[in-house]
Amino acid sequence: MLVSAKEMLDKAKAGHYAVGHFNINNLEWAKAILITAQENNSPVILGVSEGAGKYMCGYKTIVGMVNGMLEYLKITVPVALHLDHGSYEGALACIDAGFSSVMFDGSHYPIEENIAKTKELVKICREKGISLEAEVGAIGGVEDGVVGKGECADPKECKMIADLGVDMLAAGIGNIHGVYPDNWEGLSFETLDAVQKLTGKMPLVLHGGTGIPADMVRKAIDLGVSKVNVNTECQLAFAAATRKYIEEGKDKSGKGFDPRKLLAPGFEAIKATVKEKMELFGSVNKA
Ligand code: 13P
Repeated sequence: MLVSAKEMLDKAKAGHYAVGHFNINNLEWAKAILITAQENNSPVILGVSEGAGKYMCGYKTIVGMVNGMLEYLKITVPVALHLDHGSYEGALACIDAGFSSVMFDGSHYPIEENIAKTKELVKICREKGISLEAEVGAIGGVEDGVVGKGECADPKECKMIADLGVDMLAAGIGNIHGVYPDNWEGLSFETLDAVQKLTGKMPLVLHGGTGIPADMVRKAIDLGVSKVNVNTECQLAFAAATRKYIEEGKDKSGKGFDPRKLLAPGFEAIKATVKEKMELFGSVNKA
């Protein structure tokens, strides 16, 4: 059964480790992540962007697929199914479809509007036992052009949003999505420390987990990060393993063209990436 992310993140915050949020794109992704979580006795969060939601034929399809997998694969570790960077309408649609957790990303709105919309969702999520992530300070991406430094959130605004009763808070601390440019200045631990001091027990979320050096990730966890989002790294690992299989001509040998064979190296590569992250985040044996 899917669970809200609240309990796993409160435990992670108290225990000074982080739970991995891994974005899913299809059946192979979801299956690889769930099996790895079970093998490592780790809680896990499956992230779904609105784009991935459309790709997988809607939120109801995803809920059906993931619930079916939990039963079929006999998954007993805590699993949350979470909307990533949702709009207000997207969050409502996911709640309706059976997600156990949603993110409302109001960081592009003026803070008053972000507060008003987050507040409404807090009420709805509370009633349904669904966990809610909010965001302050937009997290950029390489597609926005070369970025030296991602945006840093205003700690006071973080406190205002945290006080609304959300379950986890994403604050921009110089992190960006995708591969970091060569001139990236690194995470702003000064911002993170200030946010953590004002928000206390609130589990903080580090987006853009791909490519952040391990020592920086550990320091961020020490400073209150309890959820780390990883997407691109699984995609790169999947693509590299698939490329190798095809470049070695394996799809042309015997039944190597069978999708169950062709997608297997990529599947194993996702598993290896997820395991490595769970070890880094400290969530192994924390189910
Ligand atoms: P990356 O793609 O950089 O790992 O970021 C993932 C993320 O933050 C999803 O919300």
